[in-house]
Amino acid sequence: MSAPVYRIGMLGGGTVGGGVYELLRIKQRTLPVVATAASTTAAATAAAAAAVVVVSKICVRDLTKPRDFDIDTATTALTTDPMELLSPDIDCVVEVAGGCDVAKDVVLKALELGKTVVTANKALLFEHMSTIEHVATGGAASAGGGKPQLGYEAAVCGGIPIVDVLTTGYAGDTIQSVAGICNGTTNYMLSAMAKDPSVQYADVLREAQDLGYAEADPTADVEGHDVRAKIAILAKLAFGVTVPMDKIPCTGISQITSIDFAAAKANHRCTIKLIGTAARGSTTTTVGSNPSGVCVYVTPTLVPLTNQLANVHGCGNCVTVTSKNMGQCTYAGPGAGRYPTANSIVADIYRAAAHALPTVAFPIPNSCLGSDLTVVDDYVACFFIRIPCQTPVSFAALGAIAEECGLALASIEEQDGSQLTLTTSSSSSRSAVDKFCKDVQEKLDFVTGSPLFMPILSVDEE
Ligand SMILES: NC(=O)c1ccc[n+]([C@@H]2O[C@H](COP(=O)([O-])OP(=O)(O)OC[C@H]3O[C@@H](n4cnc5c(N)ncnc54)[C@H](OP(=O)(O)O)[C@@H]3O)[C@@H](O)[C@H]2O)c1
Repeated sequence: MSAPVYRIGMLGGGTVGGGVYELLRIKQRTLPVVATAASTTAAATAAAAAAVVVVSKICVRDLTKPRDFDIDTATTALTTDPMELLSPDIDCVVEVAGGCDVAKDVVLKALELGKTVVTANKALLFEHMSTIEHVATGGAASAGGGKPQLGYEAAVCGGIPIVDVLTTGYAGDTIQSVAGICNGTTNYMLSAMAKDPSVQYADVLREAQDLGYAEADPTADVEGHDVRAKIAILAKLAFGVTVPMDKIPCTGISQITSIDFAAAKANHRCTIKLIGTAARGSTTTTVGSNPSGVCVYVTPTLVPLTNQLANVHGCGNCVTVTSKNMGQCTYAGPGAGRYPTANSIVADIYRAAAHALPTVAFPIPNSCLGSDLTVVDDYVACFFIRIPCQTPVSFAALGAIAEECGLALASIEEQDGSQLTLTTSSSSSRSAVDKFCKDVQEKLDFVTGSPLFMPILSVDEE
């Protein structure tokens, strides 16, 4: 008797799709689906143990485009019709096309039909989280009687299994915060600027584009939108909250200059990293003292050189989870790339085939069951502020505006005659700093451009 086949229909045959195909077909061709105790019956377990995974359809935009992976035409058909992926013989739809148009239609329809869906698409998960959650929960029973399953390990931090860690590893714990570097492109750029003060933002962006790290339109990466989607997904897993886009303060790296790196190093022994943070309020975190508040934000951050995050270079990703029982645990590795990302997809496929994915799309953590967490969009930190200026500068005028905004300034330094760098007290709110920056630009003649501000990661958070 030949082994049962677990059939994959894949939307997308590009960087990640090609990697998934290679890992499944070439490198792990003979590996059976692993059965687990989650399989419901002995027969299902036996069948699963013997099943072979086959990618039977790949849907792409352009059939004539050369592919950089070999396709076995005896088992795999290429198509341009995404609806073919929804046919009854497909057990699992893998979405590696990206975007929120066709990908959204296919993902939602597949879930409605009770199929398993595995996706790498953080933008889709973030922008349509409530709909996806609703459809995944209410989807039809699949042909085999199971509910639809959704896997999205590859959507956050590529190859780092942070989704699985948050879904299963903290069942008996209470997470306080999840924070880290979740975008390889911007980390590559910031690492290059930190290493060589002569490297300017525009130069390193061009270099990242030439190397294929940054898209032709780099907005999603450099303005922090990619990190925003990822940290919102992690916030959902850590705290059970769906955070809308307009509640996530998001600043990218496009205003960072070599002056910022120099001041960060000389005055604070810090480097600069783009950090996504999701934190629960308490007396010891940056969200403030409201224990039922959760704040999610993305911002370039001054990170002490002694912190692990400061030592993540190039395209690497690194996420620190702070929890009651474990203190701090850090998960680091490749945040993108063909095989790391494909590895996460393949892990989800195997979990799905063994019915080992969670039964709901975004499980609520045990520690948050019955709690009423609310999303707040302000947080407290010590801030670094840089103000472009010309002489003469009035420190008294700056101080007066700071006072009006309820800010205490801890230090003011002049940088090469055309910039001021300020540090606030550690109890400053983001909203007060934002107001201060807007007010000084509007009211003070010696301010010549838009001020920039960033929180400084405190030693407590290390
Ligand atoms: N690349 C990474 O390192 C990485 C890491 C983590 C997550 N991801 C996510 O993975 C997804 C895929 O990324 P990628 O880098 O593999 O992208 P990619 O190389 O551009 O590949 C996209 C694939 O999707 C196909 N496609 C796009 N729109 C389609 C449509 N309307 N109908 C049919 N096929 C369509 C394209 O077909 P053609 O080839 O014919 O144009 C292509 O094969 C994205 O959501 C991305 O955010 C990527």
